[in-house]
Amino acid sequence: MKISSFLYFAGFGIRTVLFRKKDPILGTIILTDRCNLTCRHCSVNNITSVMYPYEQVKKEMRQLYDMGIRILFFCGGETFLWEDHGKKLRDLVIEAKEMGFLIVNTVTNGTFPIDLPEADLILLSLDGDKERHNQIRGNTYDRIMHHIRHASSDNICFYMAVNQINKDAVRDVCLLAKDTPNVRAVSFNFHTPYPDTKELALTPKEKAKCCKVMAEMMEEGAPVFNLKSAFPYLIDNRFPTPCHQCVVMENGKLSVCGRCIEVPGLCEKCGYFFVAEYTLLFAGNVKIIWEMLRTYLKYI
Ligand SMILES: C[S@@+](CC[C@H](N)C(=O)[O-])C[C@H]1O[C@@H](n2cnc3c(N)ncnc32)[C@H](O)[C@@H]1O
Ligand code: SF4
Ligand code: SF4
Repeated sequence: MKISSFLYFAGFGIRTVLFRKKDPILGTIILTDRCNLTCRHCSVNNITSVMYPYEQVKKEMRQLYDMGIRILFFCGGETFLWEDHGKKLRDLVIEAKEMGFLIVNTVTNGTFPIDLPEADLILLSLDGDKERHNQIRGNTYDRIMHHIRHASSDNICFYMAVNQINKDAVRDVCLLAKDTPNVRAVSFNFHTPYPDTKELALTPKEKAKCCKVMAEMMEEGAPVFNLKSAFPYLIDNRFPTPCHQCVVMENGKLSVCGRCIEVPGLCEKCGYFFVAEYTLLFAGNVKIIWEMLRTYLKYI
């Protein structure tokens, strides 16, 4: 991370903590909900299948920038499927950087060739070892690994949603992140139980077991891009929700934290690590602040 970006985020953090401000810093733009996969745990694919138009996405980027947002994520659906008038995901990432976003990331299922060197991080969903990943995501593991090997840059970070199917594969993904060229780290979430995937949720005891493995892996030098100090809060869902510093934009509609904010009762069962990490950070939790500094400077 550039020193100027670091200073910008430090200033934002200090103002937010001291004055209990609720201004957002992280924004996600949903480019489409169209997807080539229908993963077992996912409730947000192919609802409309609309590709949002380039001009609209550009306007949304400008709106988020003007709100003070400096960390931008592109998400879907499948982001690499998005195109409009000859524009593709890579054009959006380049334009976001030119607009002044300090960190630009994208989330992908990795089933398309990866040529996105301008992104700070490509969060690539990998949901376990081959067997469990394929159980969740169809027969895609080998194709994804091929694309990682042939990626044009080393800015990939595995992104694993831990659920009843893959809860015993946390270690496998940590070790793979450590040993795979082009992969910088792995970032975890626990399954967030939307009404149609409730049965995949983990109990606090199961979450604690997974966190123990993650912590052991961190000790052994695996590149886990999460904060150990947030684990106890995640295990018991004891962190504040929603995250006011994060917003999501989909088809012109702005939501605080996530699209899921509209699902009754879901925030109390939220499994997204970023929510725990950011809300605790901006509540002024000293351990989280210190660990966040070390972790972010290491991986971005
Ligand atoms: C909705 S997908 C969109 C981007 C891309 N299609 C992908 O799979 O990475 C974004 C991330 O959300 C995760 N996800 C989907 N449903 C989830 C849930 N109920 N709880 C936690 N993570 C979930 C996916 O595993 C993926 O890592
Ligand atoms: S690839 Fe992503 S958007 Fe598509 S079904 Fe899977 S989790 Fe959902
Ligand atoms: S806190 Fe609520 S809105 Fe935010 S990600 Fe979790 S479930 Fe979604």
